[in-house]
Amino acid sequence: MCGIVGYIGHREAYPIILKGLKRLEYRGYDSAGIALFDGTDIKLSKTKGKVDDLQDKIEREMPTNGNLGIGHTRWATHGVPNDVNSHPHYSNSGDLVIIHNGIIENYESLKKELIKRGYTFKSDTDTEVLVNLIEDVKKNENTKLGKAVQIALNQVVGAYAIAVFDKHKPNEIVVARLGSPLAIGIGEDEFFIASDASPFIEYTKNAIYLEDEEMAVVRRNKGVKVRKIKDDSLVDPYVQELQLNLEQIEKGGYEHFMLKEIYEQPSAILDTFRGRMRPNEGIIKMAGIEDNMKTFLNANRIIVVACGTSWHAGLVSEYIFEDLARIPVEVEYASEFRYRNPVITDKDVVIAISQSGETADTLAAIKLAKSRGAFVFGVCNVVGSSIARETDAGAYTHAGPEIGVASTKAFTTQITVLTLIALRLARAKGTISSSEFRHHMIELELIPEKVKRALESDAYVKTIADIYKNASNFLYLGRGYNFPVALEGALKLKEISYIHAEGYPAAEMKHGPIALIDENMPIVVIATKKGHYEKVVSNIQEIKSRKGKIIGIVTEGDEQVRALADHVIEVPETIESLTPLLTTIPLQLLSYHIALMLGKNVDQPRNLAKAVTVE
Ligand code: G6P
Repeated sequence: MCGIVGYIGHREAYPIILKGLKRLEYRGYDSAGIALFDGTDIKLSKTKGKVDDLQDKIEREMPTNGNLGIGHTRWATHGVPNDVNSHPHYSNSGDLVIIHNGIIENYESLKKELIKRGYTFKSDTDTEVLVNLIEDVKKNENTKLGKAVQIALNQVVGAYAIAVFDKHKPNEIVVARLGSPLAIGIGEDEFFIASDASPFIEYTKNAIYLEDEEMAVVRRNKGVKVRKIKDDSLVDPYVQELQLNLEQIEKGGYEHFMLKEIYEQPSAILDTFRGRMRPNEGIIKMAGIEDNMKTFLNANRIIVVACGTSWHAGLVSEYIFEDLARIPVEVEYASEFRYRNPVITDKDVVIAISQSGETADTLAAIKLAKSRGAFVFGVCNVVGSSIARETDAGAYTHAGPEIGVASTKAFTTQITVLTLIALRLARAKGTISSSEFRHHMIELELIPEKVKRALESDAYVKTIADIYKNASNFLYLGRGYNFPVALEGALKLKEISYIHAEGYPAAEMKHGPIALIDENMPIVVIATKKGHYEKVVSNIQEIKSRKGKIIGIVTEGDEQVRALADHVIEVPETIESLTPLLTTIPLQLLSYHIALMLGKNVDQPRNLAKAVTVE
């Protein structure tokens, strides 16, 4: 997955594209490149590394004038991250130049054919094959660029968001999408192209999100013409008014996006339930649930599909749905689910959870479930994302843009939405009483303030981070609702500090991980008062007798764990089902501080990307 940006209009394209690429770096940062049309020719520069490296290079070696251009920030799939494999890519004649996010699966057979016809290739990429295929079609069929792109894409198997232009027709950029996102910003006599709206948000609030299998010819002074790639039919595109503002996507005074997003959780959680829940009146209302209540109530089971942190939120929801609404739940890695011929019927409700709404495996799982007749409900953060559009109904998390690659506020807001859904269904099914229903809502309403209190442990968590930052391994333990939190805590640490960490159900420790424990092993144990407290205390005793270092996440005022543990971090008390919203906070902070102390790139950890649009 990669980030793509393009501009055509009356302004200088370079600064717009450069800034846009910086905003899209969360999508990948192995290499970057920009191609500009300067009025007579294409000027292109690209390099392995980050957008800052590209900027240095361009400003050393290339004039930056021109009001048409495209840019790319890459997360490598085909071909190692090096200068040659970076985008944009030229066609053999040098007339066409392209940027691409996605994978052309049949690129090898296409490449063989093109080599037979005399084409040569500099890079190992599938993208260079595509631009030459377009060139070949354009020459053979003697057609315009738009038509050539269309014919070429009909020969392609795979996923793409592309932008391509021809130096002999410098008044248009042709774009297309299948499986990877592509938005077109509509300004006054100017157009912006990007993987999401963040590169153009300060220029226009109007955007067209291309649908899968659509392409568009974007013409200077003329506008945007959208067509179906397969059958050439014209599409009347929906111009959406964007809600996002620039401050939301900038760091707001924090050193890192991750820290900003951790601290945004009180307001993000509030935004998630705001307007959906009225505890005093005993009401939870979410359109996607109300409109499909029968389907939910008649469902045999709920299957949750997701990846990464979203999968952990799904695991928490298994406890909530089963506990409150008494609906059987299965939680599946989307990547496994899609390939194992799962038993799905029209009596199943599938809930797909995804921050970005673009994760390829989750999208594929949704398509599979739909093809087998299941009703699919999406829980996404990014409005208008592919998953939001592909699902039958859904509920947004309203967390605001999450830029740090390690997911934080997306996780807690996903749990919040899933809690609201479970509560609403529980009430409709009568599996909880109206007083329990109200009690849950009142407790949920208090969570933003309690998250704020949990954040007050930051300085102390930093002290603990300093003590354990050089450990080679960490173990995270939790039970019940807090078992998925242990998994999430371990994932956070792995992702950004590169320290090996494992999450485990506390009681399973004795079946393996206990063998790892010695005086060098820090063990984070979630031991809040609600939920198997005494059992977890016994687990802590077992660790202590093997000299492990215990960091307890406990309820305010706890004494029993304090007496046993090396350190305790307190979180406010709440009902059991809501404890994950609080116990997660110190774990996020712990991984943040350790990574920072180790000098790691917190917002852009190596090898990872924010939205994984490849399988
Ligand atoms: C990537 C991100 C993770 C995220 C996962 C699923 O691996 O780095 O933070 O949890 O994808 O992404 P989604 O957007 O579907 O929640």
